[in-house]
Amino acid sequence: MILTVTPNPSLDRTYEIPTLERGAVLRATADRIDPGGKGVNVSRAVAAAGHRTLAVLPLGGPAGAALGDLLAAEGIEVAGVPVAGQTRSNISAVEPDGTLTKINAAGPELSADESRALLETVRTRSAGADWIACCGSLPRGLAPSWYAELVAQVHQAGARIALDTSGPSLTAALAARPDVVKPNAEELAQAVGRPLRTVGDAVEAARDLRKLGAGAVLASLGADGQLLVDADGERFASARVATVRSNVGAGDASLAGFLAAGGVGVRALASAVAYGAAAVQLPGSAMPAPMDLDPSAVLVGDTVPVGLELREPAG
Ligand SMILES: Nc1ncnc2c1ncn2[C@@H]1O[C@H](COP(=O)(O)OP(=O)(O)OP(=O)(O)O)[C@@H](O)[C@H]1O
Ligand SMILES: [Mg+2]
Repeated sequence: MILTVTPNPSLDRTYEIPTLERGAVLRATADRIDPGGKGVNVSRAVAAAGHRTLAVLPLGGPAGAALGDLLAAEGIEVAGVPVAGQTRSNISAVEPDGTLTKINAAGPELSADESRALLETVRTRSAGADWIACCGSLPRGLAPSWYAELVAQVHQAGARIALDTSGPSLTAALAARPDVVKPNAEELAQAVGRPLRTVGDAVEAARDLRKLGAGAVLASLGADGQLLVDADGERFASARVATVRSNVGAGDASLAGFLAAGGVGVRALASAVAYGAAAVQLPGSAMPAPMDLDPSAVLVGDTVPVGLELREPAG
């Protein structure tokens, strides 16, 4: 079972519009509502792969109730923590050429009691979880040390933690020794405070995160692929993709693929890349199902191409 934690989830509304015109009333040609949030995405992909998953998240107001219902309809168990504020609604406008404009709301501020209740729910529901995936930024009211506290508590209960966050909440959590962290290139550069120009730079940065406490580092390097640095050394994998439709949520899909394949070693790395490659070929933040995957497109290198220049340098 894979438990996910999404401290600041959303109800995502997407409108298809002919063209984005400032100051005008725009008529949508289609619209849809999807569950949103990085841990929620991991749960969706894990559930689609046929694994049991439990999504722990704060839920407030009508948007929170609707989010809980949408997740349940996808076969995801939900442990909602009631909060006084309203779960946020994020708005996306998509034009026919694929251009995406997003408005993300801040989300509710959690009280000290709600912050404790969220942590307590993770702790009590973590029995039997193979992995706990903690994903995304923290809402107002949760201290930057909140993930660090979570890691410490959950380790006492014997579960493994995968953490996908950035900035101070990532830095603070490293000392609590998360089993896996999944930064993208920008997040990795920020965590070590230096730019990344090559895959070799990313290897050095990932080694530094291990020295700071991460058990393994799964670094996603956008179109270049992914790097796994763990106690056994370094491995690199990539996949060719013909047409990229949307890279939104590709990192979340990758983490889901990594954990669904056991969360350890080169087999999990290959699965992460297969999931990332499948995700970018789907619209919006749609998560891949097993039939969307093409494992034969994944190349796992015998060596890490340390000299390879990143297509998108970071930092
Ligand atoms: N343009 C691309 N072509 C091929 N594969 C891609 C491309 N972009 C992303 N991927 C695949 O998806 C993985 C994750 O992408 P990325 O590093 O952009 O994650 P991310 O920034 O964490 O995304 P998000 O947080 O939005 O989910 C990459 O490592 C790669 O395997
Ligand atoms: Mg990401």
